Amino acid sequence: MSALFQPFKLKDVTLRNRIAVPPMCMYSADDGLINDWHQVHLTSLARGGAGLVVVEATAVSPEGRISPGCAGIWNDQLAQAFIPAVKAIKAAGSVPGIQIAHAGRKASANRPWEGDDHIPNDDPLGWQTIAPSAIAFGANLPKQPTAMTLDDIARVRDDFVNAAIRARDVGFEWLELHFAHGYLAQSFFSEHSNQRDDKYGGSFENRSRFLLETLAAVREVWPEHLPLTARFGVLEFDGRDGQTLAESIDLTRRMKTGGLDLLSVSIGFTIPEGRVPWAPGFMGPIAQRVREEAGIPVSSAWGFGDPKVAEQAVATGQLDQVLVGKAHLANPNWSYQAGRELGIEKPSWTLPAPYAHWLERY
Ligand SMILES: Cc1cc2nc3c(=O)[nH]c(=O)nc-3n(C[C@H](O)[C@H](O)[C@H](O)COP(=O)(O)O)c2cc1C
Repeated sequence: MSALFQPFKLKDVTLRNRIAVPPMCMYSADDGLINDWHQVHLTSLARGGAGLVVVEATAVSPEGRISPGCAGIWNDQLAQAFIPAVKAIKAAGSVPGIQIAHAGRKASANRPWEGDDHIPNDDPLGWQTIAPSAIAFGANLPKQPTAMTLDDIARVRDDFVNAAIRARDVGFEWLELHFAHGYLAQSFFSEHSNQRDDKYGGSFENRSRFLLETLAAVREVWPEHLPLTARFGVLEFDGRDGQTLAESIDLTRRMKTGGLDLLSVSIGFTIPEGRVPWAPGFMGPIAQRVREEAGIPVSSAWGFGDPKVAEQAVATGQLDQVLVGKAHLANPNWSYQAGRELGIEKPSWTLPAPYAHWLERY
């Protein structure tokens, strides 16, 4: 009996298995508008058998894009472009999710394959970034952001709310708030990037405030019966992880009280020099701590592309859901093949009848 292929029920949504495709930026939109490529990409991933497909980091405002090519959902036209993908993901038996995001001081960057570095403000493609404090990320992203005013903070929170409303209205059934990877929300939580002396900086409570307020405001508009999740970097691998992880678990408890249904446990990436101990499944034990100590379902990524590692993570109680990213880009049928590799006799969990009729005979 495979643990990975057990259904997963969260609120009123039942996923056909524990495999999810995590958000992966395509950097291929025009002024936020997704196109035929995104439809092909998302549909093929859903057809491959994953229980959940989460659309890439989708900006809540133009300034919140990582690159000029990032997807956006800051107006109705942009939102409606997702409808064909939402329908196709459902038709393939998967559940459509979306990650809504603001890139903060990591915004205004070139695509990874075009340098991955900041685009200067005087370049027509670049823009001034914003962040909790006027502290640059460094390395390839040296641009100094503007410290946000209280009005800026309220506006971005409202941008998240409006993005959630649009995501809801075009049929997404799973919402992920991007609170990870050194982008805006993560940079409010981290002492590396937040040196404010008002109620949004300093103490643990103050550094948590933007995340908790945004979650609470989104909770008001996102349907109670659908999963509301967040991706959050629980540690930085900066030598201070004991304290950061303890604070992150405390914040996760508070997010759970505020209506969070699942945490996608990730890495902070708030500093360029973090020493991440890359290895297959290395985030599993960290996610398990969050799962047990905060009492919330968790998912995680980074190195679960081997089906046996993925199976083990669910079977041993580390994860409720496994995120398989790059392996899905290499092989959109990853779930189907993982089922075969793990000895699932009849992989009907993924196959529609016209396929199953033929494939299960051989
Ligand atoms: C092309 C690409 C784009 C990505 N874009 C996002 C994103 O939009 N949001 C996010 O939270 N993570 C993003 N990530 C990180 C992935 O979601 C995932 O955590 C990472 O690839 C590690 O999982 P893996 O080892 O299974 O690939 C991206 C990764 C890749 C390869």
